[in-house]
Amino acid sequence: MNSLPNAVTIKEVGPRDGLQNEQENVSTADKIAWINQLSRSGYSYIEVSSFVHPKWIPQLADAKEVAESIERYPGVTYAALTPNMKGLERAIEADIDEVSIFMSASDTHNRKNINKSIADTYPILQEVVDEAKQAGKTVRGYVSTVFGCPYEGHVPVSQVIDVCQRLLNMGIDELSLGDTIGVANPKQVDSALSQIQQELSFDHLAMHFHNTRGMALANVLVSLEHGITTFDGALGGLGGCPYAKGASGNLATDDLVHMFHEMGLDTGISMEGLMEAGGFIQSKLGKALPSHHMQIQNRNQ
Ligand code: HMG
Ligand code: MG
Repeated sequence: MNSLPNAVTIKEVGPRDGLQNEQENVSTADKIAWINQLSRSGYSYIEVSSFVHPKWIPQLADAKEVAESIERYPGVTYAALTPNMKGLERAIEADIDEVSIFMSASDTHNRKNINKSIADTYPILQEVVDEAKQAGKTVRGYVSTVFGCPYEGHVPVSQVIDVCQRLLNMGIDELSLGDTIGVANPKQVDSALSQIQQELSFDHLAMHFHNTRGMALANVLVSLEHGITTFDGALGGLGGCPYAKGASGNLATDDLVHMFHEMGLDTGISMEGLMEAGGFIQSKLGKALPSHHMQIQNRNQ
């Protein structure tokens, strides 16, 4: 491999991307206890919930209570999704550190996910970014369906670049590129990143892989070779997208951390802490989590 960084940043999205897709409702008290365990495991960033419409994502209807009740550990950024001004107002009331706007590179997924065309989404998100900045918050921007859409199939990279450019122009602090339904392959990631990095200039770029077809870790390695050092993961491989049929769990943070540690890259995260927190949320969901490390732990118990 070409030269590797000494350290990488892993952003835990399990409490949001993971739990938004679980049938079993985890109680507010258990979510709070779990996020506190995650904070103690060495993360610098945890996406704790989502200030979306509770009718759309009932699993996260308690976003405000969760955000207000978790312990805030120094050095940890606590983030949440905010699709519009109503969401931002709720997030600010709950004193979220960083808010995340999100939209798709394909129009059909955008409509299914946030009930608007891509064109109609831009002014809404611009207002959210402007107001969030006024309130002293940093803003992350997610682009979904970067490598394929469950409704439209192939998504041209030029279309992805257009959407990314619009978000960057809004003044976001970090862009996270989402393989929402886990269809990306390493060659495709290599080619898309070459084009994206040539056309756009970034302060911070992150990758958000789902592991539907088992290709997420391979895609991380290709992204590393493109100089990307920030990756999203969900402990145990929890997760999905309720508006993307077939989307399964996120790349499992525990498997990702293990790979980086074995390669000699620092994550700041304790594998022991992760496994304990994984065991806790698994017991609350009442089902085995799919990551390799959770399977090993479950076999050994
Ligand atoms: P809408 O129905 O079009 O909203 O939903 P609206 O603006 O027309 O408002 C309708 C009503 O909803 C109003 O109430 C609003 O006040 C209320 P009424 O006047 O009728 O009583 N409302 C809200 N209430 C609470 N919080 C809010 C809010 N907004 C409006 N924020 C909306 C539009 C975006 C809200 C809706 O479509 C929604 O909540 N969508 C969420 C979808 C979602 O969470 N998807 C999963 C996250 S994205 C993802 O997983 C992908 C990612 O992981 C990356 C990847 O993997 O690619 C990030
Ligand atoms: Mg996702």
